[in-house]
Amino acid sequence: FETGALQGKRVVITAGPTREALDPVRYISNHSSGKMGYALAEAAAAAGARTTLVSGPVNITPPERVEVVNVTSARDMLDACESRLEECDIFIACAAVADYRPADVQEQKIKKGPDDMSLTLVKNPDIVASIAASEHAVFTVGFAAETQQVLEYARGKLERKGLDMIVANDVSSQGIGFNSDENEVTVLWPGGEVAMPRARKSTVAAGIIAQIAMRQDP
Ligand code: PMT
Repeated sequence: FETGALQGKRVVITAGPTREALDPVRYISNHSSGKMGYALAEAAAAAGARTTLVSGPVNITPPERVEVVNVTSARDMLDACESRLEECDIFIACAAVADYRPADVQEQKIKKGPDDMSLTLVKNPDIVASIAASEHAVFTVGFAAETQQVLEYARGKLERKGLDMIVANDVSSQGIGFNSDENEVTVLWPGGEVAMPRARKSTVAAGIIAQIAMRQDP
């Protein structure tokens, strides 16, 4: 991207996993490390944007010049994002948000009992879809982590969630996607798409930020 490509823009990026509590010591989560989201924040700040990371629990030192808001659950993440919508021009949803959470959070540690145990889960709110549907004019970018029919499912999510752009991420291949240092993605928007070859997440992030800078309001 060109230096200053996002000068004066305010960017909010979600990153990392969410944790959905079962009891005081257990939770449901996933393998997102936050590396991709933090790399995007670094690239957005380097492009001149005022950048905020809304981050699930990760072990990464935040980039300089980036404000970090730490959250745990999907519902915390939604609240943090919604409360920043008025100061947001571009929203990038890179977090691996848990689609479901346990229906009940036990106040005490669950005791070991019978051989079988089932959990009842309820759906979490969809953060990126709700930002895209809000009345604020925000250029909304989602990710699609897929293990099959990657581009087809990604385009489906672009349309269904009402997004301006989506980053299709094949998470079935070794060495890219969740918790790795490299990634390989295709950026899709309603009128086209561009593939980005396998590279370090910092390079991929710079490519995604360049596409956003090019395609958001002219
Ligand atoms: O963190 P890393 O280890 O670096 O890994 C990066 C990554 C693989 C997590 C990242 O590149 C990625 O693909 N993030 C999206 C993960 C995901 O949850 O994808 P999804 O296809 O399930 O969700 C689609 C989109 O909806 C995503 O933008 C997601 O942030 C968003 N979403 C999903 C569910 C939900 N309740 N709220 C959401 O906002």
